[in-house]
Amino acid sequence: MNWFYEQPVKIFFGNNAKIIELAGGRKTLLVTSNYFVKSGIAQDLSKKLGNCYIYSNVSPNPDVSEVNECAKILRENNIECIAALGGGSVIDLAKAASIMADDISEYMNGKKVDKAALPVIAIPTTAGTGSEVTCVSVISDRKTGRKLPIVSEKFYPEYAVIDPGFTYSLPKKITASSGIDVLCHAVEGYWSINHQPICDSLAYHAAELVFEYLPRAYKNGNDKEAREKMTEASVIAGLSFTLPKTSAPHACSFPLTSIYGIPHGEACALTLDHFIKINKEDIRTRKFAEKLGFSDTDELAEKVYELKRETGLRTGLKDFHLSDDDIKDLVEKSHHPNMKNNPIEITDKILFELYNELKER
Ligand SMILES: NC(=O)c1ccc[n+]([C@@H]2O[C@H](COP(=O)([O-])OP(=O)(O)OC[C@H]3O[C@@H](n4cnc5c(N)ncnc54)[C@H](O)[C@@H]3O)[C@@H](O)[C@H]2O)c1
Ligand SMILES: [Zn+2]
Repeated sequence: MNWFYEQPVKIFFGNNAKIIELAGGRKTLLVTSNYFVKSGIAQDLSKKLGNCYIYSNVSPNPDVSEVNECAKILRENNIECIAALGGGSVIDLAKAASIMADDISEYMNGKKVDKAALPVIAIPTTAGTGSEVTCVSVISDRKTGRKLPIVSEKFYPEYAVIDPGFTYSLPKKITASSGIDVLCHAVEGYWSINHQPICDSLAYHAAELVFEYLPRAYKNGNDKEAREKMTEASVIAGLSFTLPKTSAPHACSFPLTSIYGIPHGEACALTLDHFIKINKEDIRTRKFAEKLGFSDTDELAEKVYELKRETGLRTGLKDFHLSDDDIKDLVEKSHHPNMKNNPIEITDKILFELYNELKER
């Protein structure tokens, strides 16, 4: 078996004091979301950074127009470095803007990223995407209704500064949705056809942590140990999938988020237990379940379902009253290239059955 591993991001885990030293006096744009401006955290950090502007026009599942606006600010102000303080949406926007393209949508169809990128210091505030260590930036184009990952080595941040303290303020719903995304990354990276041994061991570690600590972090947001362990799980799962890439649940999540507005992690988890069952003939999927202490893949799928119930996440799509045409549209739009990373070939027939089952739940 041939495989390749690299991880160019320098990772600091613990408190966030390191950010100032790492920015090193460079002219910085602090990219963040409104929450951190309203709470004053962004202004405090900006003052400490000194030579710093703030950009906070970032919505969840950021749009190409926001990326283009941020890129323009970077160009016009001769910014030397970006500090991205926020969840996956903020970090992804910062990565996409870092190449300062006139129009990022040009890169959403697989065009190679051919521009130099500004260095990004990624400071995650959710325990979920692992974007601080990945070479992926997921961007939405609301005009065309698309949501797609852009992949480039240029998108690896320069540094990841990971402080679990930032996650204490996460509301329950975001704790649950971003937390279950971690599990999807671990499972999907593991069973991806591009799997490799270093990422395998990271995936086990991250999945074990999610089963143990996500219910605790959900029940009590001030449980510091649970917050720290979920933050650890998030970065480790990020490392586990950035090279193998995600597969069927993430491919289905893109239309579920762009058409029905379901938050990213919740949208991925909607189909995770179903794909565990669909993939049960795959020997590695069976091994993953056994390594985690489950008797078989059905027991793993059941545990994922229970975890969703325990953390208040959707287990079906019945609220949306899907018509046959809606399901047809979902099936078509789920055929994102990541679907091809699934160890079992996913046909339209499988997707029709899956969405018809979810429609009733
Ligand atoms: N680049 C990658 O490798 C990768 C991987 C998976 C997902 N993603 C993408 O990341 C996005 C989802 O990111 P996410 O799940 O981190 O959520 P998010 O960044 O969209 O944030 C969700 C909400 O939580 C708020 N928030 C963030 N941190 C907070 C805190 N500490 N306290 C209070 N509120 C806080 C944000 O302001 C926002 O309103 C999606 O677009 C998804 O496709 C990227
Ligand atoms: Zn994800």
